Amino acid sequence: MADEGVNESNVEAPDKKRLMRNPISLIGMAMAIVAAANILFLFLIDVMSAHPNAYVGILGYMIMPGFLVTGLLMIPIGMFWERRRQGQPSLPTLDFNSPAQRSSMAFVLSFVVVFLMLSAAGSYRAYEFTDSVQFCGELCHTVMHPEFTAYQQSPHARVACVECHVGSGASWYVKSKMSGLRQVYAATFNTFPRPIPSPVKNLRPAAQTCEQCHWPSKFWGAQLKTINHFGYDEKNTQRTINVLVKTGGGDANNGQATGIHWHMNIANKISYISDEKRQNITYVKAVGRDGEVTEYFPKDAPPSADQIAKSEKRTMDCVDCHNRPSHIYTPPDRSVDNALISGRIDVSLPYAKQQAVTVLTKDYKTTDEALKTIAAEFPKYYATTYPQIAQHKSQQINTAVTELQRIFKTTTFPEMKLDWKTHPNNIGHFYYSGCFRCHDGNHVSKTGKVISKDCTICHTILSQDEGGVQMAGAASGVAFKHPVDIGDLSQVNCSDCHTGGPQ
Ligand code: HEC
Ligand code: HEC
Ligand code: HEC
Ligand code: HEC
Ligand code: HEC
Ligand code: HEC
Repeated sequence: MADEGVNESNVEAPDKKRLMRNPISLIGMAMAIVAAANILFLFLIDVMSAHPNAYVGILGYMIMPGFLVTGLLMIPIGMFWERRRQGQPSLPTLDFNSPAQRSSMAFVLSFVVVFLMLSAAGSYRAYEFTDSVQFCGELCHTVMHPEFTAYQQSPHARVACVECHVGSGASWYVKSKMSGLRQVYAATFNTFPRPIPSPVKNLRPAAQTCEQCHWPSKFWGAQLKTINHFGYDEKNTQRTINVLVKTGGGDANNGQATGIHWHMNIANKISYISDEKRQNITYVKAVGRDGEVTEYFPKDAPPSADQIAKSEKRTMDCVDCHNRPSHIYTPPDRSVDNALISGRIDVSLPYAKQQAVTVLTKDYKTTDEALKTIAAEFPKYYATTYPQIAQHKSQQINTAVTELQRIFKTTTFPEMKLDWKTHPNNIGHFYYSGCFRCHDGNHVSKTGKVISKDCTICHTILSQDEGGVQMAGAASGVAFKHPVDIGDLSQVNCSDCHTGGPQ
């Protein structure tokens, strides 16, 4: 075949087509054609489907283009090899006077230009795709499943992962892709920790992420919250608290510079030393507007000057309070309260709150086991304890089971060893220490200044109801009345008893 080729073609220029007829070029060509067809097909799927799919993206924008480029490169390599095999000089002599050569050069050049343009568009799509929610949240399914599930239920469900985790700018993009490579490795070889550790140590400073959408200067005024609780008694007694949370404090030019967002006021800087999880705070340093420095130490076990000098200090930003803006693992106690107030669990079922929280908080090894146990145990309780109610309200009991299964699936992830206890939420102080990590009345300065635990600096309780009857109420605010007597409220840590699980 090859010999024939040489004989037939005249001596001037070896026939390109014949040169291509070598195994390397032919395989390359076949590979390039198949890859190109695949890319076209995947591209059409990607463009036409309403829900972009992570695997389509990976195949279409990363793997197939790899094959395409390799295939295309193999064509000239094969031709080069074939020329040498035929004993010709390995590179062709270019002759701009030959019309045949000119047209083939024009062909090759235009192909290269079109190819470069398409790959520029393709790379941009690949870049966009590696930044997409599908890529971050769905691809490593088990690994990111809890974060992705919680994210979809959160106020930020429409904010892409990268808006908080990467932000804009090339250096953070490269940084995140490098750590992404490590994560792909960990996911492939199953070496990732369960749960994925939090806090995220190298999270980008909030000024470059959160503050791109939320403008600190515009925090002022207050926010009225109505919080509903249901008791663990037979009647699921409802208790309602109306609390005005003082969320102001952003900027002295735009209102009073007091209130909760005082901390992140540009002129104030608070830094602290803590354990890995940022839950136990052993030192706080506040630098005020006027540059005045105040250092606070825990009364019982102040660290030595040496320890302070050596320890890493974290500067407070949005994420030190809002550590769960998107991945919120609601405690079962609160999830069930929400289900009761919205009617997804019928309040008239006796001990519904108690039974629901109990069945949600058993020690499960898998999600499947939990869903089955919920479906069996919750109805069994009524069948054995309240047979009549089980009969009359079987519909309500079934609805409750569906709701409890939904709650479990969206807040608890046994496969990743993750639930509300592993990922505390630092807003408030009810289920977790939260604000009381510092505002516990126990952090004092050398001159006796205390990080305040005064019940009115952060909020005003406007009213409290129990079982539909007002316990207390006044426009100017009331002192919080604890439903059962537990002594002086300023001396207790709420989360010691309110654990988010059964009481
Ligand atoms: C509104 C901002 C925001 C968005 C959107 C967001 N995250 Fe996060 N994420 C955070 C913050 C803040 C933390 C860190 C919590 C901490 O350090 O205590 C975090 C933590 C994580 C963690 C560590 C484990 C944990 O639960 O703390 C993972 C994994 C994660 N995010 C993945 C994702 C994925 C995947 C998406 C998109 C599906 C996403 N995030 C979207 C803000 C966000
Ligand atoms: C891309 C824009 C964007 C970014 C980035 C962003 N947010 Fe938001 N955030 C929003 C929007 C929009 C809402 C309102 C959602 C709604 O009301 O449905 C919101 C709501 C909130 C709320 C109120 C939640 C509630 O329960 O009503 C808090 C708190 C918050 N964001 C904190 C943060 C923090 C902390 C970060 C950084 C880790 C952040 N956001 C990053 C857009 C953003
Ligand atoms: C000292 C703790 C703390 C810090 C720091 C903090 N916040 Fe808040 N923020 C709160 C609390 C508490 C609320 C009330 C929310 C609630 O009760 O659920 C709140 C409410 C909000 C809301 C909804 C409030 C409204 O008025 O609609 C947004 C948005 C928000 N914060 C964004 C931010 C951003 C962005 C940052 C960083 C620049 C930040 N916060 C820093 C504690 C803090
Ligand atoms: C890392 C420690 C720390 C944490 C956590 C913390 N704070 Fe503070 N907070 C401080 C310090 C320090 C001050 C200033 C005390 C002083 O020097 O006057 C302060 C002051 C305040 C003030 C008073 C501002 C004013 O008007 O003078 C409010 C309100 C406040 N914090 C709310 C909160 C809320 C709400 C949370 C929880 C979401 C919280 N803080 C969590 C350290 C902390
Ligand atoms: C440093 C700020 C701060 C201090 C001090 C503080 N609180 Fe709160 N408290 C909060 C925040 C923030 C929330 C709202 C949390 C939320 O949005 O769920 C809250 C919520 C509450 C609630 C409603 C909780 C629920 O889930 O039903 C009660 C009750 C309450 N506080 C009582 C008190 C009492 C009593 C004291 C005094 C011992 C006190 N607080 C001191 C910040 C504070
Ligand atoms: C010594 C344990 C203990 C401590 C500490 C404690 N509580 Fe309670 N709390 C209880 C008990 C017990 C109930 C009653 C539960 C019931 O009757 O269903 C309760 C009920 C409540 C309720 C009514 C909602 C519900 O779940 O029934 C609120 C609100 C509340 N506590 C707030 C607080 C706050 C705020 C703090 C911190 C200042 C606090 N508690 C500290 C034990 C405690």
